Parts: sequence; C-alpha cells; structure tokens
Amino acid sequence: MVDLFSPFTLKDVTLRNRIVMSPMTMYRAVDGHVSDYHVMLMGSRAAGGFSLVFPEQIAILPDGRTGSCCAGIWDDKHIEGLSRIAAIIKSMGAVPAIQLGHTGRKGSEKKPWDGKTQLPPDHPDGWQVRAPSPLPYGGRYPYPVQELSTEDIRDLHEAYAAAAKRALEAGFEWLEMHFAHGYLGASFFSPLANQRQDAYGGNLANRLRFHREAMDAVRAVWPERLPLTMRLGADDFSPKGVQFEDAIWAVGELRQHGLDLADISLGINTDDMVDPPFDREGFMVERASRIRREIGIPVGVSWNLGVPQTADRVIREGSADLIFLGRPALANPHWPVWAARELKHADPFSLIPEDWAWWLRSRKGSRGSEGWPAIKE
Ligand SMILES: Cc1cc2nc3c(=O)[nH]c(=O)nc-3n(C[C@H](O)[C@H](O)[C@H](O)COP(=O)(O)O)c2cc1C
Repeated sequence: MVDLFSPFTLKDVTLRNRIVMSPMTMYRAVDGHVSDYHVMLMGSRAAGGFSLVFPEQIAILPDGRTGSCCAGIWDDKHIEGLSRIAAIIKSMGAVPAIQLGHTGRKGSEKKPWDGKTQLPPDHPDGWQVRAPSPLPYGGRYPYPVQELSTEDIRDLHEAYAAAAKRALEAGFEWLEMHFAHGYLGASFFSPLANQRQDAYGGNLANRLRFHREAMDAVRAVWPERLPLTMRLGADDFSPKGVQFEDAIWAVGELRQHGLDLADISLGINTDDMVDPPFDREGFMVERASRIRREIGIPVGVSWNLGVPQTADRVIREGSADLIFLGRPALANPHWPVWAARELKHADPFSLIPEDWAWWLRSRKGSRGSEGWPAIKE
C-alpha cells in the first residue's frame, strides 16, 4: 500500500517519499539574489528527509516580488545563486523544485514583521503594482493598480519562458507556476480581481487564457521529461469569487497545455472570505481529492497537515499524491524523520543521508538521550 514514505514518480523524476517542503517567502534576498541563508535553509530540509524542496516563490520580474527583499530570476545573474540551492538539495538526495511567480497587485510589500502592508509606488523599496484590472486589493494593499495591456501580458509570458530557461540552467528539475494566493495568476482567474472586457476577462475560458498561454510558453522551453506543475487558487471562499467547480474545469483545461500535477490551494483574492477555514485540519484535502478523482491528474495539497498521522492518512486514502508542508517544515528541519518515528516506520533514519543515519542507528545512547521526543507507546 502507498503511504507517506512511498516513492513517487512523475515524468523522469522520482521522489524518495511524499513529503514536500512547500515554497515559503523569506524576505532575505538582495536585488533578487539568494544567499548562504537560502542554501542553509534548503540544504537542511533536504538533509532532513524532505523529498522535494522548494525555495520561496521566485519572481519572474522585479515587480513580481512580494517585497524588495524577495528572490527573483529575471536576470542571468541570478542563475549562479539559485544553482547553489539546486546543487545542495540534490546532493542531499532530494529533488530541487522552483516556484515561478508574479505577485501582481499584492506586490510592493513591507516585511511582515515591519507591518505587513503595501509600500506606495514612490517609496524607495516600493513600486507601481500591475494586475488584470485597476482594482486595489484593499485593506493592507490600498495603492492604485495599473491595468496590464495585452502587450504587457505578452511580455509577462516571455518573462515566464525566460525564467523557466534560467531555472533549467540553474539545475531545477521540477517547475511550479504560482497561480494562487491573490497573486497575478490568481487575479486573472478570479472575477473579484479580473473585470477586463477583452479576451483575458469575462467568462471562465477567458479568465484562464493568461494561464494557458503562460503554460504554453513555459512548456515550450521546459523539457517534456521534467514535471511542470502549478499551485492553483482553487476556491476564493466568496460568493462572487472563484468557485471550486471552476477550478476543477481549469485543471482539466491546463492539463491539455502540459500540466503534470496540480498543487491545490486557496485563491486569497479577498480578505472577506466567508467562513475562512484556516483553523481546520487539512481543509483543502477534500478539494484536492475531487480534482484527483475527477480529472485523473496527480495532486499535491497543503494547509494544516503537520500531524504525521493525518498526512499519512491523506496519502493512504488516495486523496493526494504529495503533502506540501509549510510551517511544519520551518519548525522542524527533520519533520520527515520525526513523522517516520511517530508512524513506526521500520527505519526512520533511512530518510536522511547515510553518513548521519549510520551513526544514529548504530551508536545508541542512553534511553531518551537521542535528541528526539520520546515516542508514545
Ligand atoms: C513564511 C511563509 C511564506 C510563504 N510563502 C509562500 C510562497 O512563496 N509561495 C506559496 O505558494 N506559498 C507560500 N506560503 C504558503 C505555504 O507554502 C503553505 O502552502 C501554507 O503555509 C500552508 O501549509 P502549512 O499549513 O503546512 O503551513 C508561505 C507560508 C509561510 C508560512
């Protein structure tokens, strides 16, 4: 039976288990460049047993960053730093993944711990944000939004393709396009943010045109043998926003454009969500499971899946193929080994590099002194 620790193969890539370090923006880059900090973070999680490791969302253009200290790939100069991340992940037995994105109307942000609000376009660390329609998100994101022209959209697709080429050169083997969380892809899909009258707005098919064209542009340069995936904002939890039925259709459509796996998340196109589910365990699992079943495509899912028994059950029940962990991956670099111990895996240390595993297996200390929480019998 397939469980949390079973390998998973997609195209020519095999993951050693089903546990993914989800992309997480860290606000530590300089001019889009990653640093030793990112190498440390990704390397430690790869060494801790995660099978697929994402650095943060990587911006395809400078105005696609969350804040001025977020990472990017709009210049060939970014390749070297990113290649160090890919190399360390690979050397620890995991697969290096990259999430390409553009933040649209939710860009130009301050660091969260400086107050998670937008900076005005004339601030030295801010910029003019752009999106499908000139509608500010509101609340923490109050500044005027510039509507994208069709030429701008064409340039964005070219930027996606250029970014994908650089990602390949940097050594990444899995590419995810970020179409969730209120960023540009999510805005195009949602009637809350997209009120265009042209071919990129209006009906559902038009609201997915941006994504189809972006995916075509990326697939043209990203090898067929490597997975091309997306994170989709599959529900806005709002009566006037993206409805989950629309998302099911969208995944089927994008599959025709080269999509290999759908990572199911929320739209977050408004703060006025009806009954937001953030305190419920695994609240996106049922939606991911329906997409998997109805479209017949592999799916990944995140949100509140840090309890090992829950994550394992999601895989065993066939609700999802991959578990994306965000906060648990920050909290515990060895979450996979901890989970394996909790779930009574025959050899939890087989999840980490053999040069540590050997010592931990063969040099046992006194009871309880190993550095792991005691297992409840
Ligand atoms: C600090 C932080 C930064 C995040 N940045 C991103 C990001 O860059 N891209 C993205 O798709 N999701 C991002 N997320 C969302 C996570 O990838 C994940 O989907 C979410 O936290 C839910 O999973 P969890 O319950 O395991 O934390 C971020 C989450 C956190 C906590």
